[in-house]
Amino acid sequence: MTDGLCGLTAKILGNRIIALLTVDSTNNYLKDNGEQLPNGTLCYTGWQQAGRGRLGRSWCAEEGQALAMSLLFKPSDGLEQLSLVCGLAVSRALSRLCGQMFQIKWPNDIVCGGRKVCGILCENRWTGNNGFVVAGIGVNLRQTAAAFEKAGLPYAVSLEMVSGQAFTVEKTAAAIVNELEPLWLRLKQEGFSSLRGEYEQGCITVGRPVRVLSLGGSILLEGIAVGIAEEGYLLVDSGSKIVPVSAGEVSVRGLDGYL
Ligand code: BTN
Repeated sequence: MTDGLCGLTAKILGNRIIALLTVDSTNNYLKDNGEQLPNGTLCYTGWQQAGRGRLGRSWCAEEGQALAMSLLFKPSDGLEQLSLVCGLAVSRALSRLCGQMFQIKWPNDIVCGGRKVCGILCENRWTGNNGFVVAGIGVNLRQTAAAFEKAGLPYAVSLEMVSGQAFTVEKTAAAIVNELEPLWLRLKQEGFSSLRGEYEQGCITVGRPVRVLSLGGSILLEGIAVGIAEEGYLLVDSGSKIVPVSAGEVSVRGLDGYL
């Protein structure tokens, strides 16, 4: 199904829109079909049946409860920090939509009131002569506290829970794409250095005590998060030195829990 998106003002992102009633994963859809699709293609659904999260986790929601959207960026050059920039765009879009403060938990969880409302998964696909990036964004829209409790997600929250409003997948997707386009253009043209300060300002992790965990859950490092490096690494002051932490294989927690 291909259609326009009401409220979309971006010119390049969303120039092609694939709106699906349901799909296994919007990231899979664009990874499988990206070679034939133009830069900026948006694929979205309100019913993603086998969504994938960071670090091999799954990302699930019942039909109509969440937005799953992916954007195609080609070529992939110069987009190493795209996932952080997506986080900045989503935090701004949701703050604007709801009139409340949404912040980034490094690298790109979006949180409100200390709980996670959105996750982002960027994936690279290498093709014959050039690669592309698929940026996948999942936003909890209508789930209830009881649904999250049943799913064993104590730190999750939906937009409806924080704002009392039921946002549609279309309105939410359009708001995110509109916010992302100018930031993505700046990333391409000026590099992440031009956005780093804004990212740090919107990042709740910076300035907090953190614990860096391996995939197996063992503690690799504890310290104070003091900033974000040029490459997008989290800079952690361990007490004796500043350690750059890459998002690839670790998760970061506060000392008392999620934040
Ligand atoms: C995370 O926090 O672990 C990242 C979650 C990313 C979920 C989104 S939903 C749209 C896109 N399609 C997927 O299969 N995953 C991403």
